[in-house]
Parts: sequence; C-alpha cells; structure tokens
Amino acid sequence: MPTNHTTTPAHVTLRFQDLRWPQNKAVSHILDDANLIYTYNARGATWRLIHSLGHKNRRVVLLPAVHCPTIVLPVLQAGFQPLYYGIDENLNIIHEDLLNKLSPNVAAVVTVNFFGFPAALDPLVKPCRDAGVLLIEDCAHSFLYANPIRLTGERGDASIFSFRKLVPCGPGGAIRFNHNTPAIASPRNRSSISHSFRTLKARWEEALNNHGDGILNRGYFWLENVRTSAREIAQPPAIDNNFDVASTSGGDYRCETFHGTTRIPWLTHHLIRRARIMSAVEKRRGNYQLLSECLHESSRLKIISPNLPREVVPWAFPVLLDDRSTLDYRMREQGVPLFTHGETLHPSLTELSNQEPRMVKKARYISSRILCFGIHQNLDPNTIKTYSSVVNKFVT
Ligand SMILES: Cc1ncc(COP(=O)(O)O)c(C=O)c1O
Repeated sequence: MPTNHTTTPAHVTLRFQDLRWPQNKAVSHILDDANLIYTYNARGATWRLIHSLGHKNRRVVLLPAVHCPTIVLPVLQAGFQPLYYGIDENLNIIHEDLLNKLSPNVAAVVTVNFFGFPAALDPLVKPCRDAGVLLIEDCAHSFLYANPIRLTGERGDASIFSFRKLVPCGPGGAIRFNHNTPAIASPRNRSSISHSFRTLKARWEEALNNHGDGILNRGYFWLENVRTSAREIAQPPAIDNNFDVASTSGGDYRCETFHGTTRIPWLTHHLIRRARIMSAVEKRRGNYQLLSECLHESSRLKIISPNLPREVVPWAFPVLLDDRSTLDYRMREQGVPLFTHGETLHPSLTELSNQEPRMVKKARYISSRILCFGIHQNLDPNTIKTYSSVVNKFVT
C-alpha cells in the first residue's frame, strides 16, 4: 500500500524545485563522454560488461567478500562463477588475498569504491594486466569526484556507474572503458511503457512527499490507497515465504537481462542533466564533515572514514555499530535517516565458511554491523546536528 512517509529519507529524493532547472552544461559535458555506454541500471552495466567477456576457459570473476548482492547476481546471470577476496574492517581490499587468487581461470576482478571512497588499486593494476584479467572499478556508490568535478573510475580497465545514489533521478547506469578494452555496443531497447510509467509515478510521489502535508499530497495518497486496496481485494498479492537471494529473481536485488539490454530511461536522462550537481556536491561534503565532527565514537560505534579526502563525493556516512539490529529501528523511529548496506551476503560466499573461515567470518562481522547515515543534499546542517545528538545518546 503506498504510504506518505513522514520520516526523513536516508536517500536523496526528488523535490518539485529540482524540475525547474535548465540543462546544466557542466553536467552535460561530463555525461557526453564518448566512452560511456548507458544502461538501465548499474547491475545491467555489470551484466553487459561481464557477458561481453568471450573467454571460454576463464569463467571466474573475483568480487569483494563484503558486497551487495547486486554485484553478484549479474555475474551469475552472465554465466560466470563468483569467487571472493577479503575486505578489512575499514572496507579496504586485502591485496595479498586478492593477488593469491589471480589464477588462469579468472576473467575479471571487480573492486568497489565503497561509499565513494576510492579503493587502493595501484597494487592490482600491473598484476591484473600481466595476468590478462579485466580490472573493473565499480563506482556505483558515487559517479563523481570533486575539486574539480569529474567522473570517477579512471584507474581500472572499465568502470561501472549508478546515478541515483547522488542525484534523485531513478534507475540509470553506465559503463566506461578507460583503455585497451574492446568496446561493446550501447543497448538498443527502450524501457517498456509500464516501466516508464512506474518510474514517473515513483518520482512524482517522492516530490509530493517532499512538498509537505498539503491538500494535494493528502488527496493523492488517499486516492492511491483506495486504488491499491480495491486492487488487492480483486487480486490478493501472492505471499512469497521462500524469498531467497540465490534464486534467479533475487528479490529486491534482482538482475534481469533487460537491465543490460535496455537504454537508460528517458526520465533519468532528463533529470541528471538538469541536476544542480555543484550544490549537491558541496552539501554532501559539508554534511559529511559536520557529521564527522558531531558523532562520538564509542566502544559500540566506530566511524569507518572520519576524514573526507578533497576529491570524494560521499554517498552516505558509514559506521560499524555493535547491536545494530536492536538499535537501528529505534534510531529510525526517532527520525534518524539511516539504512544498511551489504546486510545480505550472497550464499556463494557463506558456503565458503569451511574453506575460508577467516574471510567469511570477517565479512559477516562487517555486514552485521555496518550502518549508513544519510548526508545527502536535501538534508540541512540543523538536521545533521539534531540526528547526531540522538545517535550519540544511543551509543554512549
Ligand atoms: C557496489 C554496487 N554496485 C552496483 C549496485 C547496483 O546499482 P543499481 O541499483 O543502479 O543497479 C549497487 C547497489 O547498491 C552497489 O552497491
């Protein structure tokens, strides 16, 4: 049933004022990069890239042990086998482990710039090149660097982008080839009318929610509730008690072939080109630095990256919190904009607990503690100060 949520969204959402802006030349310049191939979303980009690897004998893709299943499912969907390398508590790559796993069966290595912080790739570039392995820098958490503003992902052979993490634009992804990589064609299919309609409706509802509790808002959500209730009576929704991330659908994390064969939706294209990127970058960086000053570390809460390098445009503010599962919903009830990331690990990793107990144990430790606070451009400094004092009360 659609709800008109009153809590502060942890992710950036569309506001009516975001629609009034003309095309932003600086953004268009960045997005007109001739080496960009736009896809329906980032998982479609990963699928398209891995699927294009023609090796018959190399069927393994190395992935980080801490992950969102949206990077594992495209690999499986493309017919490759995921294998994992270790990640430490600061979300850094354990290079020794990764390099030991560069066997002749490996076709590609995917690294993730967690929350927009660049992973250390220097020790990997030459060994990957020498081994004939494609190095993919997954920049889905942040497609931009600041000072000066530019696309991330310049270091690997190819990069993956998702736009909705920084800009309220709906689904949209891209691949960029950096050097010496065979190019692949842009997807040809257009989104179906029903998909386009759903995307448009989701943005409209975000804008209404951000508009405040007016008559337009209340009227619309009342009508929506009537419509969905009537539909549910006519056709009760199927209850899926067997949700399983390993299933082909993968629930919320699902990756379908159409994600890789369909163009970026026209609405996303329209919204990113009109986004007020400079101000979004400044506000995100300012909010991150403010939260870093206001949050108190304690024996229960560890800040993963207290310092913000001058080029990073952060997606969120990650911490490790003991007892997360008992505290997160209580904080949310008190208005703290938060979400979890990598909470569900793909079964192909957890199955390795006998062969690689230390790697799996560490990944489980991180995934059960990681908590991300919202620092996006719709949040003002007072909101950050208010919610950080709520968090401090819980953890000290
Ligand atoms: C590292 C990483 N890559 C890719 C994705 C998928 O992004 P999209 O939702 O645009 O497919 C995610 C999703 O959060 C992610 O965390």
